[in-house]
Amino acid sequence: MEYKKLNNGIEIPMVGFGTWDVRGKEGVSCIRQAIDLGYRLIDTAIMYGNEKEVGQAVRSSGADRGELFVTDKINSPYASYEKTRKAVDHCLAETGLDYIDLILIHEPYGAYKEMYRALEEAYEAGKVRAIGISNINRRLYDALLKECRIQPVLNQVECHVYYPQLTYQKYLQDHGTVMQSWAPFTEGRRKIFDEPILKEIASAHGKTSAQIALKYLVQNGIPVIPKSSKASRMKENLDLFDFELSQSELSSIQKLDGGNSLFGWYGE
Ligand SMILES: NC(=O)c1ccc[n+]([C@@H]2O[C@H](COP(=O)([O-])OP(=O)(O)OC[C@H]3O[C@@H](n4cnc5c(N)ncnc54)[C@H](OP(=O)(O)O)[C@@H]3O)[C@@H](O)[C@H]2O)c1
Repeated sequence: MEYKKLNNGIEIPMVGFGTWDVRGKEGVSCIRQAIDLGYRLIDTAIMYGNEKEVGQAVRSSGADRGELFVTDKINSPYASYEKTRKAVDHCLAETGLDYIDLILIHEPYGAYKEMYRALEEAYEAGKVRAIGISNINRRLYDALLKECRIQPVLNQVECHVYYPQLTYQKYLQDHGTVMQSWAPFTEGRRKIFDEPILKEIASAHGKTSAQIALKYLVQNGIPVIPKSSKASRMKENLDLFDFELSQSELSSIQKLDGGNSLFGWYGE
């Protein structure tokens, strides 16, 4: 596994496990399986309704807590300073963990700046090891930087070969914020696994289109959090570190960038 350093010195794995729609008893064993297979970052959110499952999987895994990285996200029912303070305690209680590694504001709610202020206080109180944002475009990011005391370590955004957002990534990085990819496989919005250029490069490396799609992001310095409910795919999505894409392969994949969100997000 490769890691990336955040602006407060802590490190996150370049590949983590997404848990959207992973719930219940099956959800616990799925997340537990991911940890057993080597995933060290688990991405959850209040909105996913599975923080309990994540906590159970983490606590039962036998893995050293210090080796695992849990990301949680706070959503619209908590969109105020006071409510976000309560949300942090909710995240701790639901997961049953002593601390959360990273908490993000899930989307740019009107109150996102005051929500972030509550996260700064949670960070200072040691309830969370790092704080950040999600789905925040450049205009809102700039506005937050003007007011915040603690720079966000990370912005989790839609990011895949059709919309890698490399210019924004560089901008964020230059300002101390890592861009992390959600929906690296487009959540099924495109037939990404049949994409001819990905298939061609995959066959040259003895890999799959899925691995090339992830490697393109990882090699550009973007951590990814693919989700899969199947052990074979969980393994496949982790197995990215025994090959490198050439400059010309990276450039060929870059041509897939259509410059637009497939989800219709990130307007001004
Ligand atoms: N911050 C945000 O607003 C936000 C928004 C969306 C998602 N997220 C996070 O990002 C994570 C990833 O996004 P996502 O789950 O929406 O979509 P995704 O990772 O782009 O795609 C998941 C889909 O790809 C399939 N898949 C996974 N690995 C595969 C492989 N190697 N080959 C073929 N198919 C494969 C999965 O099916 P199987 O399960 O059948 O393998 C699943 O249907 C989420 O789980 C969540 O944690 C965050």
